[in-house]
Order: sequence, then structure tokens, then C-alpha cells
Amino acid sequence: MRDVATDVDRLFERLLAVPDDPRAVLYEAMRHAAIGGGKRLRPLLVVATASLFNVERERALRAGTAIECVHVYSLIHDDMPCMDDDDMRRGKPTVHKQFGEAVAVLAGDSLHALAFELAADPDTHPDPFVRAELAFELGRASGPGGMAGGQMMDLVAEERRFDLSTTTRLQQLKTGALIGVCVEAGAILGHVPAAGRKPLRAYARDLGLAFQIADDLLDVEGDASVVGKATGKDAGAGKATFVSLLGVERARAQAAALVDQASAHLASFGAEADLLRAIAAYVVSRDH
Ligand code: IPE
Ligand code: IPE
Ligand code: MG
Ligand code: MG
Ligand code: MG
Repeated sequence: MRDVATDVDRLFERLLAVPDDPRAVLYEAMRHAAIGGGKRLRPLLVVATASLFNVERERALRAGTAIECVHVYSLIHDDMPCMDDDDMRRGKPTVHKQFGEAVAVLAGDSLHALAFELAADPDTHPDPFVRAELAFELGRASGPGGMAGGQMMDLVAEERRFDLSTTTRLQQLKTGALIGVCVEAGAILGHVPAAGRKPLRAYARDLGLAFQIADDLLDVEGDASVVGKATGKDAGAGKATFVSLLGVERARAQAAALVDQASAHLASFGAEADLLRAIAAYVVSRDH
């Protein structure tokens, strides 16, 4: 995880050199959000999946950084006053706190665009079919049928009470879709046909849900100085979470069951999938 984080930081450093012109503040804001502090779980998932198929690490890192760009953009916008209204992210002031709301919108927009630039860049993969499929799947996972759609449901939930199946769908879109495209990307880079990706997709579906339950548990039980963002906010905001529906104990049990199930989907792989199994165990035991 540390190695991937270092490599992702290095790539962002290269991609986001600050120009000596009036756009400098936009780059500063993008760097503030993108460099330093994140767990880089999504790039790690791409690297771990790609390694099953002997993909060059540099290609996996670039594809993983593309997905991380969408993730970071979603965090910038998620923290804005019109959404979750948060002041701290990754242990630093949120982008709108540091640079203002207009710059935060543009930094999010720019990272969103950079994601697709990276996915479609010949340096990421020489095969244009691979690049097109990466961009296609990333688009699907990011838009109204994925992350943005889940964020919409998250906002609607503040006004309306969702049952468990609607809440599950919300979490699958909001968080699961982007985690799903990480393993998808690893397989795409390895030229694995869609039919061969089934166990990996099933793994990611359970992992994504477990990951969001862990995030919701950290909101209730975590220490803000360790988590790097405000805690104790979801209940007051009326967020639809497994914790609000099931309570802490049952939510934790559900997350643990999902992690076991996620690993069970990898039964057809040998020791080469141990990193993916370790990631599954990590997502529910993490403290930030
Ligand atoms: C936080 O994601 C937002 C969710 C989708 C739950 P992470 O917990 O991966 O945040 P970083 O990237 O490590 O800051
Ligand atoms: C946000 O979920 C998921 C995104 C798509 C950004 P949360 O609102 O729970 O994430 P945190 O807790 O602010 O990181
Ligand atoms: Mg939110
Ligand atoms: Mg939030
Ligand atoms: Mg949260």
C-alpha cells in the first residue's frame, strides 16, 4: 500500500506541475487534493488485479491513478457546502476551505477530465481497444449509473427513509462502482475477456459494500484525528447507512461476512490472489 501510494504521489507530481500563469491556483488546488494522505486503495486494487495477469506495473499504476482522479474529484465535490459540508479531508483543510468554492468546482472538474485523459493515453496501454474499454468502463462507473448516481441517492436519503435494499443499491453505486472498475481495469489491462472477469466482479461487489460499511462505522466510532476527516456526522445528516439501519453490531457482522464472501469468490485463484485477499481483510480492520 505504501509503495503504491508513493508511486501515485510521484505520478501526480509529474502530471500536476504548476504553470507560471493565472491557472496556477487551479493546479495548486488539484495538488492539495490529489497528493499526500489518501490510502490509494483504488490504485492498489488495480495493481493487485493486474498482477494476476502479468501486466506491467507502470500500466496498472497509470490506470489506477486515472480511477484515483475520479475518486479525488468526488471527494472535493462531496465535501462542498452544497453536499456534506466538511472542513477536513485527509487531515488537511478541504479544497473549498483552502481555495474557495469556485476553485473547488474547477479542481474537481479538472481531475474528472484528467482521469479520462490518463485512461486514453497511449502511455497507459499501447492497445487502443484496451484504452477505449478502460475509458468506457470508467465512464460507466463514474456517472449517473455509478458514483454520481449514488451520490444523488445519498442526498435524497436525507429527506426520505430508505429500506435495506435501496440503501444497498445506494452504496453499490456511490462507492461500489468505482471499486468495481478497479478490478475490471486490472483485467482489461491483462486482455481478460468479460466472461473471465466474473469472479473478480463478484469479489469487488462484496468488497465495495464492506468498504462503505467500514466508512460508516468509522463515522460513528472513529477518531477524527486518525480518520483524517470529521466523524459523527452521518446520523445527524440523515444519511442512509447500514449502521443507521442495522446498528453498529449487526453492521460490523455484515461487513465481516461480506469480506469472507469476497475472498470466497477468489477460490479459483491460488497464492497469486493473496494480495486481493489481504485487501479484503484490511478494508474492515482499518482505522482510517
Ligand atoms: C472515502 O474514501 C470516501 C468513500 C467512498 C467511502 P477512502 O476511504 O478511500 O478515502 P481516501 O482516498 O483514503 O482519503
Ligand atoms: C462519499 O461517501 C462517497 C463519494 C462518492 C465521495 P461519504 O460522504 O460517506 O464519504 P466521506 O465519509 O465524506 O469520506
Ligand atoms: Mg457524502
Ligand atoms: Mg462525505
Ligand atoms: Mg462517510
